[in-house]
Amino acid sequence: MRPPRKSLRSSCVAASLLLAGAAAAAGPPSWAYPVNPPEFVPRADDGVARSVRGSRARYSVTQLRDRFLAPVWHPGDHPPLPSVVAEGRRPDVYACGYCHRSDGSGGPENADIAGLPAPYIVRQLADFASGARRSAVPARAPIRLKLHMAQHLSNEEVAAAAEYFSRLPPRARLRVVETDTVPRTRVASWILEAAAGGGEEPIGQRIIELPEDFEQFENRDSRARFIAYVPKGSIARGEWLVSTGGNGKTLPCAECHGSDLRGDAEVPPIVGRSPSYIVRQLYDIRHGVRTGERVQPMQAVVAALTIDDMLAIAACLAAGSGGW
Ligand code: HEC
Ligand code: HEC
Repeated sequence: MRPPRKSLRSSCVAASLLLAGAAAAAGPPSWAYPVNPPEFVPRADDGVARSVRGSRARYSVTQLRDRFLAPVWHPGDHPPLPSVVAEGRRPDVYACGYCHRSDGSGGPENADIAGLPAPYIVRQLADFASGARRSAVPARAPIRLKLHMAQHLSNEEVAAAAEYFSRLPPRARLRVVETDTVPRTRVASWILEAAAGGGEEPIGQRIIELPEDFEQFENRDSRARFIAYVPKGSIARGEWLVSTGGNGKTLPCAECHGSDLRGDAEVPPIVGRSPSYIVRQLYDIRHGVRTGERVQPMQAVVAALTIDDMLAIAACLAAGSGGW
């Protein structure tokens, strides 16, 4: 069962503006697929128990890094977790909540999955397991671990997880800002982090998606919030592509994702979601690493899209309605 639909809010701003975006270079954009640099060292367990605002729970750094443990910071935010979400099953089935958080809110390094249709969740897990759904940058640890665990899930675990996450309400956790300049960033824990004392730099043709508070993110707080900086004009250009198809460049998304772009019983929602995640999906589908029978209708949507188009579409969708 899905949560009740909220009333329609405008998906993006209603203007249409064509920017002279430079033809995108080939290759997956590194801002959407951040890879830890070789010198990156995860924080050490200093023996100090971590806490987050609004919670009485305490976890050590070792616990927060345990793949068989989903931190429950705010037990009032969601029902009790089924065991596959809370602890998974050793040695291969990592806890869903370890990556996607206990309430399915996820982060830019994986995906927000709260409120996705249950049959869609089941199908994605099957596609991950069969190899139909992979990634253009397979070296990223989040997807590498995901693909490994998907192969070991039982049907009962898939059903329990799909039922749990599909019933949760999606939560607004993203702020989108159009800008010319952004904080200088580095990659840490598979996402971008503002570099300490790094100053600002031009945004260029990138989306820079960051946690509002990196420590809260690192503590796996399900209430963590994110900010997505997008180039000026990208939301309006995305609106043009999303709503009209951009003179035949793509197809109007509402044809299949519903007039409010919140999907239906089978098709996933696309508004209010992490823009880096959306770009990864468009890129992966365009480059044949996300395939599968149900993805077929998306081929015509992505065939002619450049990375700048994908950026604009993702900016528009993210700005749309957080917590669709
Ligand atoms: C090791 C981390 C990890 C674990 C554990 C994990 N996932 Fe994921 N999951 C990911 C990543 C990373 C992605 C996004 C891949 C991408 O960017 O293309 C993802 C994507 C998904 C998607 C696709 C979302 C969409 O909108 O298409 C679903 C559904 C999903 N996961 C469900 C689950 C469930 C259910 C479990 C537990 C049975 C689980 N995941 C466990 C990392 C994980
Ligand atoms: C002809 C039908 C159709 C149209 C038009 C369409 N989509 Fe889709 N889209 C789908 C289907 C079906 C899926 C689910 C694929 C699956 O089950 O794996 C999907 C999946 C997606 C996903 C992956 C979502 C996720 O949770 O991982 C994204 C992103 C997406 N579409 C974006 C768009 C955008 C942006 C547009 C408009 C520019 C669009 N789609 C137009 C049918 C369509």
